[in-house]
Amino acid sequence: MVLSADQIYSTEDARRLAQRRLPRLIFDFIEGAAGREIGATRNQSQFDTIMLQPRVMEDVAERSTATGLLGQQFGLPVGIAPMGMCNLVCPDADRHIAEVAKAFDIPVCLSSAASSTIENMGDWAGPLAWFQLYFGQSAEASLMMADRARDAGYETLVLTVDVPQVSRRIRDLRNGFTMPFSMTPHAFWDFATHPRWSLSTLRNGAPSPKNFTGTDGANTFDRGASRAGANWDFLRTLRDNWPGTLIVKGVTSGEDARQVCRLGADAVYVSNHGGRQLDSVPPAIDLLAIIREAVGPDVPLLFDSGVRSGEDVVKALALGADFVMIGRPALYALGAGGAPGLMQLLTCFAEDISVVLAQLGVRSIADLGPRSLFPSPVADQTRRQAPTPLHIAAKT
Ligand SMILES: Cc1cc2nc3c(=O)[nH]c(=O)nc-3n(C[C@H](O)[C@H](O)[C@H](O)COP(=O)(O)O)c2cc1C
Repeated sequence: MVLSADQIYSTEDARRLAQRRLPRLIFDFIEGAAGREIGATRNQSQFDTIMLQPRVMEDVAERSTATGLLGQQFGLPVGIAPMGMCNLVCPDADRHIAEVAKAFDIPVCLSSAASSTIENMGDWAGPLAWFQLYFGQSAEASLMMADRARDAGYETLVLTVDVPQVSRRIRDLRNGFTMPFSMTPHAFWDFATHPRWSLSTLRNGAPSPKNFTGTDGANTFDRGASRAGANWDFLRTLRDNWPGTLIVKGVTSGEDARQVCRLGADAVYVSNHGGRQLDSVPPAIDLLAIIREAVGPDVPLLFDSGVRSGEDVVKALALGADFVMIGRPALYALGAGGAPGLMQLLTCFAEDISVVLAQLGVRSIADLGPRSLFPSPVADQTRRQAPTPLHIAAKT
């Protein structure tokens, strides 16, 4: 079956097309995960065990997908998760993400390891641009990076805390994936057999991590560098230094979530990094209810890992998330068809969310809650009461 961007009706369509169009080295970098990739698979399969409760005769003719988060209003309860080196999938991928984010009025989080500069993304996406910070070579270097984002006008900082050490990703090891590229015979053959990708990449220049100059010892990029020195003191210092909204990404334990809140973060971002860091990690969707219970009803929770459709977005919101970020699907769509591919996939997500709301008899995102789950934990609980982790309870 031959697909083009306008024939993307689902993440799976985008994935299939991207797999055909991208060199294997690149596709595997996007799709790959830690170890045997069981954690990444489980992230998705666990969504399939969650069921939603349709409701009828609720007059859902007027529905809205608009969502407020941390003082900002968005068109959808969805944003683009931070991902390093997006321009590997197609030239100008970061700029395309910004354009599509503007079209849908959704946030886009630029990675520390992005293939575009902090300043460029700030110009392209304006107030929709968030910046994701890694603890780098030192606390000072990390704080300098945050200062740079602040100076470029960013108001939202996302500190990623779940990469003390980049995990062993077997596909990348087998393919000899390094950053920047080393042109092995294997890579040469891979690129030669994907001339469309290779020619466009050649024309635009090989992507590189653009926020590291490489000329200054304190500001060089090393993908495998240890970030294991990060500690709670760093979060405390960052909180004191960052004047805007601070979100902590990669939290999977209730206790850690409470500590993140105690140290003054504005929101907790529940994520297992799409299974890219630890193969035996629990499926992220199972963690939502646990973390909601730990932090209480008022702390905003963002969520990612395993979301592949608008219906998955609705499930995460019903289980306690306030906002959902998507990772790999965005890169599949860009690899499949550039900006039109991503536009098309987000249209699928937006339509899906709206149609699912109608099925559930719900008019707005804020009205989603445990009542939309099947079986409902408690028939008429309001959203802010943490749902019992149904699928966990069912297994015990
Ligand atoms: C190619 C790729 C690069 C990524 N780079 C980063 C990164 O630089 N910083 C970060 O916090 N998360 C990074 N992530 C993780 C995503 O932000 C997100 O947590 C994950 O992709 C969600 O899972 P999903 O892909 O199943 O949606 C990356 C993910 C992918 C697929």
